[in-house]
Amino acid sequence: FVSVEMSLLIKNGTIVNDDSMFKSDVLVLDGKIVEISPSIEPLPGLEIVDATDRLVIPGGIDPHTHMQLPFMGEIAKDDFHRGTEAAVAGGTTMIIDFVIPTKGESLLVAYDRWRGWADPKVVCDYGLSMAITSWGPEVAKEMEMVTKADYGINSFKFFLAYAGVFMVRDEEFYQGMIQCAKLRALARVHAENGAVIAERCEHLLSSGITGPEGHTQSRPEELEAEATFRACTMASQANCPLYVVHVMSKGAAAAIAHHRKKGAVVFGEPIAAGLATDGSHYYHEDWLHAARYVMSPPLSRDPTTPNALMKLLAAGELHLTATDNCTFDCHQKSLGKDDFTKIPNGVNGVEDRMSVVWDKGVHAGIIDPMKFVSVTSTMAAKIFNCYPQKGRIAVGSDADIVIWNDKATRVISKDTHHHAIDFNIFEGMQVHGVPETTICRGRVVWANGQLRTVQGAGRFVPLAPDSQIVFSAVDNRGKALEPVKVERAPYEATSALAAPDANANTVVKTPARTAIPPGGISSIQF
Ligand code: URP
Ligand code: ZN
Ligand code: ZN
Repeated sequence: FVSVEMSLLIKNGTIVNDDSMFKSDVLVLDGKIVEISPSIEPLPGLEIVDATDRLVIPGGIDPHTHMQLPFMGEIAKDDFHRGTEAAVAGGTTMIIDFVIPTKGESLLVAYDRWRGWADPKVVCDYGLSMAITSWGPEVAKEMEMVTKADYGINSFKFFLAYAGVFMVRDEEFYQGMIQCAKLRALARVHAENGAVIAERCEHLLSSGITGPEGHTQSRPEELEAEATFRACTMASQANCPLYVVHVMSKGAAAAIAHHRKKGAVVFGEPIAAGLATDGSHYYHEDWLHAARYVMSPPLSRDPTTPNALMKLLAAGELHLTATDNCTFDCHQKSLGKDDFTKIPNGVNGVEDRMSVVWDKGVHAGIIDPMKFVSVTSTMAAKIFNCYPQKGRIAVGSDADIVIWNDKATRVISKDTHHHAIDFNIFEGMQVHGVPETTICRGRVVWANGQLRTVQGAGRFVPLAPDSQIVFSAVDNRGKALEPVKVERAPYEATSALAAPDANANTVVKTPARTAIPPGGISSIQF
């Protein structure tokens, strides 16, 4: 007897995982995939989803969102309800949002606040990452607590920007990464040079540049590249894997590639905005138009950057895509009308990421459908240690599935999107690749252009530390980094060395050198 309650049969589709594509049916029971075979009999009572001529892909995982974030005196408009509705309408079935404690606040208190916001509202599954905005022994202790199963945090983010608000100093970042490595948690970084940005903002404002063009000029790309290089260097010294969020420029990507080539474990995350649009908008004559694109790091002013970032995903130099979805509406943006530093930073993305990556990646001939799956879900699931529960169409995996029409197109617009804001940074863009049906743990939540969601039906996914793809190389690498001590006899000054006599017939013995241990500094330099 097969219970057909909460069961679903997906017929005649082509399954795409990160490593294979094949035609098969998929049977879903009680939220899990229970069978994958070429022809599954449709038992009476099963809900049938026809996927003929469609791709059957793992639901997208967006590992970087900020739903209802209190930031710059405002609260981001997409809350956990509207934000996750926008996600599923776009084919994303899991988000990883950030708990961001205020400076000095207990991590546990902030964690409870975020769970209190998210749990009753989410329409799809979600996990949490946590920002470290101040440092001390209590923070280190609470980091350890939140990596336990009860809390389910396995990554910590450090801001090297937003001076006085979220920013930490280099030595705090370094000590934080030492703690991350000890806890087998992933360090994540917002890499910009916050100190120089603060200086440049003052200079630009005093020169009379108050509009959104000041935002991009206060944050030239080399400040992102410098901070990315510095963060990678410090992570290497701490022997801590690093994940660079929102890689917006070629220079930052090059810094990541440089460290990867030296053997560092570092991941780079471009976002939908950076893959599909550029910083020319900051110079738009219409103030409000320009303000809508204000985010940090800014969109690149080099128009070739979006395509270059996609090619770096194809080449494996960048690794997965996110959105940094943090939405403020026109009214909120207009609070900075006289001073660009007061424009709340953040843009939309969670609804359009999948289509944007398909369009600019697969449709453009830069990546194949398997790589698409890799950069939109599988890599995130592996890095954040919920694979193959998430990020794969396989027996035993959660039934987070999207029926993807790769032939269809849609035009992105504020008039049809599901975000809680009155504009869309991709307005008017026609994209190939449309999520026709979205299934969250076995429930159809988006079909025929309609949402079928239930507030609070999404679950919190605890993320355990020690992800294999993040930490497997770290121990051996650590051996090569162990400090080297030279065993010597106690030093005593000889009369010959103390008072050399050029005429004396003295032989000064050359001391033996301690062999550099195998695997030590002679074999590899990080
Ligand atoms: O401008 C941005 N990116 N806003 C969200 C906060 C952050 O930096 O991730
Ligand atoms: Zn950031
Ligand atoms: Zn962010």
